[in-house]
Amino acid sequence: MSIEQDFDVSLIAAMALREKQIQQTYRPFIGVHKWFARRPGTLFRGLILAEFGDGQLQDLFFRSNDFSGKRVADPFMGGGTPVVEANRVGCEIFGFDINPMSTWIVREELERLDIAAYERTVYSLIDELRDEIDSNYQTSCPIYGDTNVPVKSFLWVKTLDCTGCGRSIDLFPGYVLAENQRHPKNVLVCWSCGDLNEVEDRHNPGSCVGCDSTLKCIGPARRGRCDCLHCGQTNAYPASHGRHLAHRLFAIEYYNPTRKAVHNGRFFKKPDAADFARFAAAADRWEKLSPRFVPDQSIPPGDETTRLHRWGYTHYRDMFNSRQLLGLELSCRLIAETEDSRLRHALATNLSDLLRYQNMLCRYDAKTLKALDIFSIHGFPVGLVQCESNLLGIAAGPGSNVGSGGWSNIAAKYIKAKRYGEAPYEVIHDGQRNVRVPIAGERIGGLRGNGRGGIALQCRSATECRLPPSSLDAVFTDPPYFGNVQYGELMDFCYVWLRNLVGHGTEGFHHRSSRSAGELTGNITENRGLEHFATGLSEVYSRMADALKPGAPLVFTYHHNKIEAYCAVGVAILDAGMVCSAALPCPAEMGGSIHIHGTSSSIVDTVFVCRSPSHARGQRLFSTPGGIAGIVGEDLAQLARAGRTPTHGDTRCIVLGHLTRMAVWEHREAWDRTGSMTAKLSAVNATMAAYGDLDGLARSATRVQPAPSGSSFPQLSFDFDEEPSDAVPV
Ligand SMILES: C[S@@+](CC[C@H](N)C(=O)[O-])C[C@H]1O[C@@H](n2cnc3c(N)ncnc32)[C@H](O)[C@@H]1O
Repeated sequence: MSIEQDFDVSLIAAMALREKQIQQTYRPFIGVHKWFARRPGTLFRGLILAEFGDGQLQDLFFRSNDFSGKRVADPFMGGGTPVVEANRVGCEIFGFDINPMSTWIVREELERLDIAAYERTVYSLIDELRDEIDSNYQTSCPIYGDTNVPVKSFLWVKTLDCTGCGRSIDLFPGYVLAENQRHPKNVLVCWSCGDLNEVEDRHNPGSCVGCDSTLKCIGPARRGRCDCLHCGQTNAYPASHGRHLAHRLFAIEYYNPTRKAVHNGRFFKKPDAADFARFAAAADRWEKLSPRFVPDQSIPPGDETTRLHRWGYTHYRDMFNSRQLLGLELSCRLIAETEDSRLRHALATNLSDLLRYQNMLCRYDAKTLKALDIFSIHGFPVGLVQCESNLLGIAAGPGSNVGSGGWSNIAAKYIKAKRYGEAPYEVIHDGQRNVRVPIAGERIGGLRGNGRGGIALQCRSATECRLPPSSLDAVFTDPPYFGNVQYGELMDFCYVWLRNLVGHGTEGFHHRSSRSAGELTGNITENRGLEHFATGLSEVYSRMADALKPGAPLVFTYHHNKIEAYCAVGVAILDAGMVCSAALPCPAEMGGSIHIHGTSSSIVDTVFVCRSPSHARGQRLFSTPGGIAGIVGEDLAQLARAGRTPTHGDTRCIVLGHLTRMAVWEHREAWDRTGSMTAKLSAVNATMAAYGDLDGLARSATRVQPAPSGSSFPQLSFDFDEEPSDAVPV
């Protein structure tokens, strides 16, 4: 079999779409720890099976496969999707990543764990922690009069002192705490007295139950300006002067287990004196503690982190409140006392992942009534209203929890991930429900009994990796997409804690930061541009090409909105002495997102399949704009069969993929890899640009798209407007 002949775009696109809506359902191993821009596991499984398998992809996908003896590398392993999928089917894997967090996380995903021992240890840690800090996360229920019920979320608003009258003002962008989708009514905070009001109609909210003021939905803080409600003075924010803005606790969402059955909706309250006292007690305790694990490092400037400086966050610890710091420090102490190193590492991984929910940059989604973790987008957006989740979590039964972002949530997710590794399954959606198909015989992690599935992971730049010539059966990878994600800058948020906890002796952990000048991303602060990216990618692909057996493929996913970013890819393929034997479309991001719908953003990657020219047939070649339009039209029809109605942005990306493929083909014979990078990039650019304006090509492709001929997979159905119940932000 080969990918070019046997990969089934519609089958895999349909599964990848579904997976990206609820990735933890399809690939629970990602629950080990957050990584950015994880590609669908179903896509890489499809590619591996199409290359190494023997039979129909649709059959192979749902049964056990064993490719012992095959050697697969990923030079940019990130969260590990390609190497984990290859390991699962018995391949020997070689993974590289420049970021030490990646190597740590992929090891955690692959390393065997005594799950029962882990469960005992993590739940005893939670119990010990509960003894210490449970009271910090309790409140009383003003509706039913119960005491000591668990808090789900504390909601805080940023404040500043008015430059006119000196009084503290709340920077509310809006007063709607909860919309009436997951709660029977809208919950509005009164702008005047702070009482919470349950109202039917947001357009006619009426007056406050507490003070009779007319309620408002729109708040005074907008675009860095806020008028003081007391004196009318316009204040600017963030005016950091090296300090971040203070926060005021204005609302609590709690849970009342004994009343839930009779209560309609969620439980909200305005904090009372006891709630403020609880926070003050936690803060006091934190003040008296000499922290051993909380990092004291400053935040270096960067494309993403400079925004934090503007808001007055100069040190990583500034991004947490005292109650969070107390709970995290105590968690670290308990983890450090765990004797068994495998279990200690698992708990340290949990702590690192927990951080993203336990900081004062988390937001609260007024529609879904959920905490949004700090990485819900690939950056550090600073909001005006922040959500502090219960650090312990609220267990509702074995493996099930109320709310998110606490220790019990992280433990449940981790256990699910490791159980999945022991007994992987695929998921078929039959229109009504998800059906699990166990794939007995496959397993993630560890050396197999028969010696198959060797694992070699290295934290180092792939531009320096060494692999024996003609030793690999395939390279499957997902390189950085130029400047889309600043891996090091973002991962430092976790790294500075994890490093304190596991020590500096861990591979790659000797540096104070997980950032690296060799990271292949565009970065304005670090002066890394397209040439840096293209030169690095070219070096990596050349090394991979040398390590591949004759005719073996280098396969990678890619998407970007700009033609320049594809020119770098074209140059790297040509420098590696390869051609592109296929450019396949596959959805790889969350579909149905409102911010993507109708915009030029794309959720569709191109999967580039590259081989040496002597082993690649020129297929789907074109020489005119009409030619490419026809080919892209076929791709669009395949995606439509999978259930994706491509956006203009998707179509542009598919066009860019084929233009890159064709530019590589046209240059293959006369390519001079010794030329300057500037000259090579412009040569590829000129060839691609000769086909005409991108938007025009995308529009023509949409017009020639053949009508969908019905789904080829009647057992699968996809409803993209459906709100995923357990979708996790990726
Ligand atoms: C798109 S991510 C990979 C995501 C991964 N495939 C997944 O599904 O989770 C790209 C990775 O390339 C890594 N990277 C960037 N520059 C690198 C270099 N010079 N050598 C090795 N890895 C590098 C980044 O740290 C990042 O983890």
